Amino acid sequence: MEAYEIRGGRPLSGAVTIHGAKNSALPILAACACISGTCRIDNCPDIADVDTAIAILSHLGCRAWREGRAVLVDAAGLCRCDVPQVLMGGMRSSVLFLGALLTRCGSAELAAPGGCSLGCRPIDLHLWAAEALGASWWCEGERLLCRAGTMAGCRLELRCPSVGATENALLMALGCPGTTVIANAAREPEIADLVRFLRAMGARVTGEDTAELTVEGCAPLHGGDYLVMPDRMETATYLCAVAGCGGELLLRGARPETLEAVTDALSRAGCRLEREAGGLRAAAPPRLQPPGCVITRPYPGFPTDAQAPLMAAVIRAGGTTGFVETIFENRLRHAEQLCRLGADITQYGARAVVRGVRQLRSTELCATDLRCGAALVIGALQAEEVSRVTGIGHIRRGYEDLAAGLRGIGADIALTAEA
Ligand code: EPZ
Repeated sequence: MEAYEIRGGRPLSGAVTIHGAKNSALPILAACACISGTCRIDNCPDIADVDTAIAILSHLGCRAWREGRAVLVDAAGLCRCDVPQVLMGGMRSSVLFLGALLTRCGSAELAAPGGCSLGCRPIDLHLWAAEALGASWWCEGERLLCRAGTMAGCRLELRCPSVGATENALLMALGCPGTTVIANAAREPEIADLVRFLRAMGARVTGEDTAELTVEGCAPLHGGDYLVMPDRMETATYLCAVAGCGGELLLRGARPETLEAVTDALSRAGCRLEREAGGLRAAAPPRLQPPGCVITRPYPGFPTDAQAPLMAAVIRAGGTTGFVETIFENRLRHAEQLCRLGADITQYGARAVVRGVRQLRSTELCATDLRCGAALVIGALQAEEVSRVTGIGHIRRGYEDLAAGLRGIGADIALTAEA
């Protein structure tokens, strides 16, 4: 097993290029299974979850391969509609093959999806959408089986703006005759990216960036090229890293308009953020001010995926910051790890109060999920001696070589074999 060894206590400076968005590339790759043609998905991040998506597509009989920054998928040869546990369990996005296979084959047989351990993470909304569109589903042991039957477009009002359920409902609606309206849809920019991809491949979908998506089903789909948007959460992670350490960064390719809740919080904390040359320049003082209470919300509210990195950024701030996690019931596990660094964090259920400290102590930390791992790296970058972060397989699932990116802006971070 490997670990990061990090010697912190120094500011960050320089430039970093933001990669393609994990949470956009993954639904787009699943959607390729609907299309009997070749799609070239450019700016795909080189991360473990994309490797898992390629493995699932290959298992289904598609040809899927990397060419530089692109992943190409030729789904003409898709010949099966089952995904085994060993592949489903690798990530949460494997559940999106439910919608893609229902549309392509009228049938799907899946195991439970994997993904970060953030709470229960049910898929009841995904199954509710399938049933509302006319499909039937049942379980046989650990397997979920779904059959299209006679599906028809209809109005779907989601109980909550679930990102994954919105994406799955979109993919299911592609194969349903008539009009499907997805109301109370999630509005994350990654969903707009999926809609733009689908439209580029011939789908008749409108309403992106709003809470109501409309699909005219059964449009003939064809292959084509698509460029994945930049990763909002990688951007937020680097912003929180420089905010926590102090210094100045240029984030090439960043789109600040897609994460205003994060840039607003960092501006309140004393960072100076300016658009520059197709990216974003961020300058941070040696010590932040508390940004006030941070409550996670569906987009455009403060994103839950940036909650852990921001908490790590404010552990040395000159005051108290409150956090309320409203999206996932178990997404404050990084708080306990940050306290091992000497942070002063008190947790009350889904709330946490962070009192800024002046000094941190290096120690060994263990990542329990993707954004927790990023937070622990940001915390360790603020402690003057050498800390170790284990469990970096979680980080590898969603960040393309985070250590190299941080080294490029002055961080002392090395990959070592875990003792
Ligand atoms: C997506 O997960 C993202 N993952 C998550 O990012 C992100 O945190 C989350 O959306 C919220 O923005 C990908 O896009 C691959 P949800 P998803 O369905 O789709 C409940 C990361 O770090 N819910 O919007 O699983 C659910 O339990 C990852 O990159 C149901 O109750 O999130 C949660 O409380 C972590 N029933 C809330 O909705 C359902 O059927 C939001 O979940 C589905 C969800």
